Amino acid sequence: MKKFLIAVVVILIGIQFIPVERTNPPVISDIDAPADVKAILKKACYDCHSNETNWAWYTKVAPSSFLAVKDVNDTRKNLNFSEWNINKEAKYKEEIWDEIREEQMPPWQYKIFHSEAKLTPEEKNLLRNWATNK
Ligand code: HEC
Repeated sequence: MKKFLIAVVVILIGIQFIPVERTNPPVISDIDAPADVKAILKKACYDCHSNETNWAWYTKVAPSSFLAVKDVNDTRKNLNFSEWNINKEAKYKEEIWDEIREEQMPPWQYKIFHSEAKLTPEEKNLLRNWATNK
């Protein structure tokens, strides 16, 4: 048992030296949205869906860092508020409201460490009105 625990500790220390790159590429075309909507997107979505990621402590510790960096890199390809394509805005808005209505976004794991990303009914209303152009 003792040997096993030592092995686990050695592995956990060892993997900290595997390089992972946490990037924040330049903002190309930030989404143009009303200030109140933008404030919600910034606090609840930007860590994954923008080039302005606030890399939290757990993204700097392996193994959670591996998952976080991969997640952000993939997510930026999916929907990126820093590389906003106005021609696709209508489609994006539809998807955004779908995800929020179905409680899929922000992801539940993220909300464990980011209580500010738990959207209140008022915040959801604001996003719905914006996304559905009401
Ligand atoms: C912790 C990172 C994280 C945060 C924070 C986050 N997302 Fe996501 N989002 C993801 C990941 C990962 C995917 C891809 C998930 C999948 O395909 O199952 C995704 C996918 C999406 C998609 C695309 C779904 C599709 O079908 O292509 C939309 C729209 C979306 N998120 C909107 C939002 C909005 C709006 C917020 C803020 C309210 C948000 N996300 C916050 C990680 C995040």
